[in-house]
Amino acid sequence: MNVSPTQENLAKGATAVPPPATVNRPENAVPRNLRRYLSLEDFEPAAKRVLPRMLYGYISGGAETDASVRDNKQAYQEYGLVPRVLMDVSGRDTSTTLLGKRYAAPFGIPPLGSAALCAYRGDIVLTRAAAAMSVPMILSAASLIKLEDVKRENPDAWYQAYLAGDDVRVEAMVDRVAAAGYDTFVVTADVPVPPNRENNIRNGFQVPLAITPQVAWDVATHPRWLFGNFVRTVMNHGMPHFENMDAAQGPPVLSKELMRNIGKRDQLAWKHVELIRRRWKGKLIVKGLLAPEDARTARECGADGVIVSNHGGRQLDGAVSALRTLPEIAAQANGMTVIVDGGIRRGTDILKALALGADFVFIGRPFLYAAVVGGEAGVTRALTLLRAEIDRDMALLGIRTLDEITSDMVHSIR
Ligand code: GLV
Repeated sequence: MNVSPTQENLAKGATAVPPPATVNRPENAVPRNLRRYLSLEDFEPAAKRVLPRMLYGYISGGAETDASVRDNKQAYQEYGLVPRVLMDVSGRDTSTTLLGKRYAAPFGIPPLGSAALCAYRGDIVLTRAAAAMSVPMILSAASLIKLEDVKRENPDAWYQAYLAGDDVRVEAMVDRVAAAGYDTFVVTADVPVPPNRENNIRNGFQVPLAITPQVAWDVATHPRWLFGNFVRTVMNHGMPHFENMDAAQGPPVLSKELMRNIGKRDQLAWKHVELIRRRWKGKLIVKGLLAPEDARTARECGADGVIVSNHGGRQLDGAVSALRTLPEIAAQANGMTVIVDGGIRRGTDILKALALGADFVFIGRPFLYAAVVGGEAGVTRALTLLRAEIDRDMALLGIRTLDEITSDMVHSIR
């Protein structure tokens, strides 16, 4: 019997998703102002012009020397692909199954803190574009739009928590996320203390936001952001608040309460992951680990998956790139889902990560830049470009489905 790749994959018991409406569409269906964006990297310089310096610095920068930001990209350059030829690669299928759901492509949008401060209704446009493409989107705890509202826009959105080591607060947060109908809860493991991001300090960007003369000038000289996002947000939706850190609404972005409310994150420990596992009925993911030992502990605590990540180089400067410990973690996964993020910009990077053992990847900054320059249509453009790259790269690599990727399709070129 001639089984199509999609039928084959569905036979494995995955939940079907409707075919994405927004991929592979002709170039003339792309809004004219977005046609000049040809790859994920193209959105950054355009977003840099729109954003106040402090917000561009916040998104683009990492911690201290940015060593981990650089290594995240470098790690992908240290592998080459080894294609197979004359394989009849017609009828290709970029879809994949992740945690029991079928997605249109092996990538998703990770949590992006303060997205709605950077792009108008940032979390909403990101989640709507992800839903339309049938790829996952994770709502950040550091977001400014209520998680219940985001869930209404995208029934498949995931929630990512920043938790203090306090059982009562942890339980209340888990209960709120469950009541909102989320299926997937992501515990962030790599934020015990605020990181040292010197570019934020130099640009006057702090939490809570303080309107210093430097910040006022920065904002006044970026009118497209000021009127197109900030003023428009305040007029239509009121002053943004951190809505999703805790069970109750958090303080506004300009409030001095903020740091006090964050609580004792440095007390968060594996026992809290166990506590969440007992209470949370859906999928549980631990995000932000690099050590194979930690991945094993996550599995022993009952996590369904891990996101191997150095937080985009934004926490511990010099932390190794996730790609470098991925193979060891994947080799011992024993059925646990292994996701990777950091430095991925191209379809070829994604295929390398999959060949090195990842089940799926997340890509952050480029999608937020796309939201800044083009709103939902911009994010759709970015998602579509990346999916088209994967489809083309699969053909050139000699595969029709992502299940056909094997470790001998990458070669270390260090
Ligand atoms: C949020 O997670 C950040 O890294 O700023």
